[in-house]
Amino acid sequence: MIVKPAQSSNIKNILEKLNTFNSDPENGTTRVLFTEPEVEARKYIKEEMKKNGLVVREDSIGNIFATLEGTDPDLPPVWTGSHIDTVLKAGMFDGMAGVVAGIEAARLIKESKIPHKRNIEVIVYTSEEPTRFGLSCLGSRAMAGYLSLEQAKRLKDKQGNSLAEVLEGLGYDLSKFDEISFKKGEVFAAVELHIEQGAVLESMGLPIGIVDTISGPTKLEVSVYGKQSHAGGTPMNLRHDAFLACSEIALKVEKLAKKSSSKDTVATVGLVNVIPNASNVISGEVHFSLDIRDSDYEVKHKLIEELKDFTKQLEKSRGVTIKIKQINDDLPTKSDDRIIEILENSCKEKNISYHKMVSGAFHDSMMVGKFAPIAMIFVPSKDGISHNPAEWTDYDDIAKGTDILADGLLKLSND
Ligand code: GLV
Ligand code: MN
Ligand code: MN
Repeated sequence: MIVKPAQSSNIKNILEKLNTFNSDPENGTTRVLFTEPEVEARKYIKEEMKKNGLVVREDSIGNIFATLEGTDPDLPPVWTGSHIDTVLKAGMFDGMAGVVAGIEAARLIKESKIPHKRNIEVIVYTSEEPTRFGLSCLGSRAMAGYLSLEQAKRLKDKQGNSLAEVLEGLGYDLSKFDEISFKKGEVFAAVELHIEQGAVLESMGLPIGIVDTISGPTKLEVSVYGKQSHAGGTPMNLRHDAFLACSEIALKVEKLAKKSSSKDTVATVGLVNVIPNASNVISGEVHFSLDIRDSDYEVKHKLIEELKDFTKQLEKSRGVTIKIKQINDDLPTKSDDRIIEILENSCKEKNISYHKMVSGAFHDSMMVGKFAPIAMIFVPSKDGISHNPAEWTDYDDIAKGTDILADGLLKLSND
């Protein structure tokens, strides 16, 4: 009895179909949580899961669980899966590759007829991306007990709808919100396949990455209040330009990240809202995001403290007020040694070269790692590009990753 190789045509077909659920097809892929395309994509993926013999259920925040039953279904299950929501103007692989690989791996295991003790569950985590509500990993965060119903009532989208209202409107039962979370021991192991979103594997010419650490992200929302005034009438020495203060912070954080003692420090100002955003008006307010990540939590926090000191100086030198709100501050997540060993052995048995690496991107596995042993399989990203319509991973590479995933899930489910 053997597990047959993954079919890259299956992977391609599902990914291409998923990509038709898209609110901005002219610009790559946009599928934001609980918009119509996302809800339709959920329906499609649940059908696909059922077609492959999996039993599907959903929790109160919309995490989808598709179960392949084992011979001892009372044992803690083995999980795989990822997300199907995207950032704006994204590609068609980030998250989706892991969901589709999970479905294909479950099909291969089922068809192999090799007995497996534990249930294998393919999961679609709700909204890994912070696109709609500003906070990432909503579904897996709730699973880990770090997103309560009270917070879901406070989290608002741009239109002012709360996550709780949106869930309720779609028929999710908020009285069961407490049942979303898991305790340690309730999940035996979780393995997520994801595209690398960087160029390390491609530059090394390797098809598989095994993630040993996921960098911990901190997201800050910074507001600078200066003085809105006339671009012609206000001499340079009498200005309190909020945009220039924002610019100085952006350049400072770049400098701090570049001279960091950790090679994994990255920092990004990705969202900037300049008010009033007019060519002949000195901006009075700027609201912007700061995304800072590191595999070393201490180093990250030293950087944030240095940055905060800098903003205090800036308040004085530019006569502005700066407010910093922390949206999330996540710890780096270590993969489990035993799962890494299993994945490494699968690679060796299949004669596939691999590289152990850090993930700079965050993933639902970061949250799942709070209550279960995790590891991740990376497959190469062409030119390292992601969060971009040009994002690409060869279907054959996803299939190769799926072979390692299927093998790993099978071994873990009999562990
Ligand atoms: C996930 O998309 C991330 O920003 O790392
Ligand atoms: Mn992403
Ligand atoms: Mn992702």
